[in-house]
Amino acid sequence: MTQSSVDVRSLDVTRIRSDFPILRREVRPGIPLIYLDSTATSQKPEAVIRAMDEFYRQSNANIHRGIHVLAEESTAAYELAREKVAQFIGAPAARQIIFTRNTTEAINLVAYAWGRANLTAGGVGILTEMEHHSNLVPWHILAAEKNLRLEFIPVAPDGMLDLDEYRRLLDHQPKLVSFTHMSNVLGTITPAAEIIRLAHEAGAVTLLDGAQSVPHFPVNVQSLDVDFLAFSAHKMCGPTGIGVLYGRKSLLEAMPPFLGGGDMIKRVHLRSFAANDLPHKFEAGTPAIAEAIGLGAAIDYLTSVGMDAIAAHEQEIIAYALERLEEVPGVKVFGPSAEHKGGVAAFTFPGVHPHDVSQILDQAGIAVRAGHHCAQPLHEKYGIPATTRASFYLYNTSEEVDKLVEGLYKVKEVFGM
Ligand code: ALA
Repeated sequence: MTQSSVDVRSLDVTRIRSDFPILRREVRPGIPLIYLDSTATSQKPEAVIRAMDEFYRQSNANIHRGIHVLAEESTAAYELAREKVAQFIGAPAARQIIFTRNTTEAINLVAYAWGRANLTAGGVGILTEMEHHSNLVPWHILAAEKNLRLEFIPVAPDGMLDLDEYRRLLDHQPKLVSFTHMSNVLGTITPAAEIIRLAHEAGAVTLLDGAQSVPHFPVNVQSLDVDFLAFSAHKMCGPTGIGVLYGRKSLLEAMPPFLGGGDMIKRVHLRSFAANDLPHKFEAGTPAIAEAIGLGAAIDYLTSVGMDAIAAHEQEIIAYALERLEEVPGVKVFGPSAEHKGGVAAFTFPGVHPHDVSQILDQAGIAVRAGHHCAQPLHEKYGIPATTRASFYLYNTSEEVDKLVEGLYKVKEVFGM
């Protein structure tokens, strides 16, 4: 086995790593953490941790409710975070940014509010075979309730979506095309702008699951011309508990509310209510205030590093990882070649369960995920129950890829392969 490391020059990774306190820890005495599980959740830089800590120490109050200093500071900070999100994804206006709990809740919001009002019996929705459960199950639930038909763009043998089959599916006059921007298993980056353009020509509304794209490369809702975009803060250096739904204004305005309660109303009477304006109409109850502020800090952090530089770094890391993984006899990596892929390498090792692979890697301090990664239908397509998945972000290095490969040789040794 060779031990060559590429020199990733796009980012000052040593400086970036020093921004993440957790990357200094050892998982066991003498065993430093090698964190290759950012597709599940990213680590948090000091700036995000500090922003949330300062909010609780200095300004904590409920928002949109009080007229005291703390309430006004908290409201301003929460709404500033919304402005930052809008700017980050190129949204025309901050009121088109709805804070949700996560990507899953954002997709459910569209399924329940837009889907229930706009989809009728016999209507067709197009998804893909590479969706995360969060972009399958909300539509399964709605399809059962409304008697809808779901069709799926197949994954071609090269790990890309089969766009010829997609064009054929569009003959069914779908009302909805909802798909991932980047597979959390294959790493496939889908041709979102083209899929959206074709969907619009067929008269469909589009939803893009940006959970794995928004954290990793520049995403602009206006140049994509997408109707809805969903993503989570915790995968982009922000906290858990907060996600985002961007929506086209005309669609959001026409949609009925999702959850009912405080803040989402203009007036309430004993037998009626009037819904609030955007974005508050979709934010019932006290929201995740500190988390929104943490997301704003994460956006500042990612912007200061540069999304193009992050994307270039991950492109170099994944190309190197695929090259090194190929050297390990028996390892089969799923998904397309590096130029069509983000920083995700899901693989199998013949005769060894991914949980065992993960456990042996953990002994060397290497954190990866094993399982179906909430994409069970995709694993069924390949006839496997699970994969081991290494995933990379701005703070990962080629030396960590080398450690992963060393760990896989250890797996071979343990299993006498
Ligand atoms: N969606 C996350 C993953 O792929 C949890 O691991």
